[in-house]
Amino acid sequence: MKREKIMEYFLAAEKEGYAIPHFNFASFFELTAIMEAAAELQTPVFAASLPKVARMYGPAVLRAAVDGLGKRTGAVAFLHLDHTNDVNLCKEAVDAGYDSVMIDASRKPLDENIAAILEVAGYAHAHDCAVEGEVGKIKSRGDEGDYQGEDCLVQTEDAVLAAEKSGVDYLAAAIGTAHGFYQGEPKINFKRLEEVAANIKIPLVLHGGTGVPEEDVRQCIARGIRKVNVGTIIRYTYLNRMKEEIEKQGALTPPVDLIYPSVTDSVKEVVKEWIKVCMAEGRVIC
Ligand code: 13P
Repeated sequence: MKREKIMEYFLAAEKEGYAIPHFNFASFFELTAIMEAAAELQTPVFAASLPKVARMYGPAVLRAAVDGLGKRTGAVAFLHLDHTNDVNLCKEAVDAGYDSVMIDASRKPLDENIAAILEVAGYAHAHDCAVEGEVGKIKSRGDEGDYQGEDCLVQTEDAVLAAEKSGVDYLAAAIGTAHGFYQGEPKINFKRLEEVAANIKIPLVLHGGTGVPEEDVRQCIARGIRKVNVGTIIRYTYLNRMKEEIEKQGALTPPVDLIYPSVTDSVKEVVKEWIKVCMAEGRVIC
């Protein structure tokens, strides 16, 4: 049912021309902000943990947190493991009840990438968990990897092979975005995105949302992107606002009364802005 539900949401997004927002969190406050904002705007979201976050708390703790917050807020949030090349961590997340896992073997040759996705998909699908893979190389300087070369663009034929042969449910295709804050303007290859979208049937995922102008994200959605990943701006809003509030209020202010609520509200605002960029308000299916 979980995987079926996710795919039902992707079908609706395809039919109605929007994208499902994906937000990375590293702390419980960020997760709370994401889920409260999702509930308030009636938006289905992916709540995503990078491998270090999943390992730090433990996948079962994050499953319990999303379940508990889901009950309290009413949010529809799919718990997702983001960007791991570790097949065993994917299986651990599946065992803990994650809704979705990403096996990112994009640095390996295509046949090995496909083999890794096949292994994860076999296990995940048997346990009702959806799977994301990646083709091409999304540039990064962070936890998602450190690829910085220029030959990062996805080859359309690689995306077609991965979509057809690996059992993947949705696919991240490198079209010029990068993880983390951009140095300069992001240069998205819309033509390549169009080509890939015209040749594969499964949903496409845009990574590296932070810093991509709204107009470009909308162009990507118009060309077939159905999930938009946003991480860095969530974590930095949380950290920067925390620093600001401590400086403004003084270190002796009771943090629970004054600092955390204001910081969480700022994160919620950012989440809501991105939900609107994705045109995903009011998309919860009853
Ligand atoms: P940013 O951190 O650049 O927003 O990218 C997030 C992402 O793509 C996670 O998979």
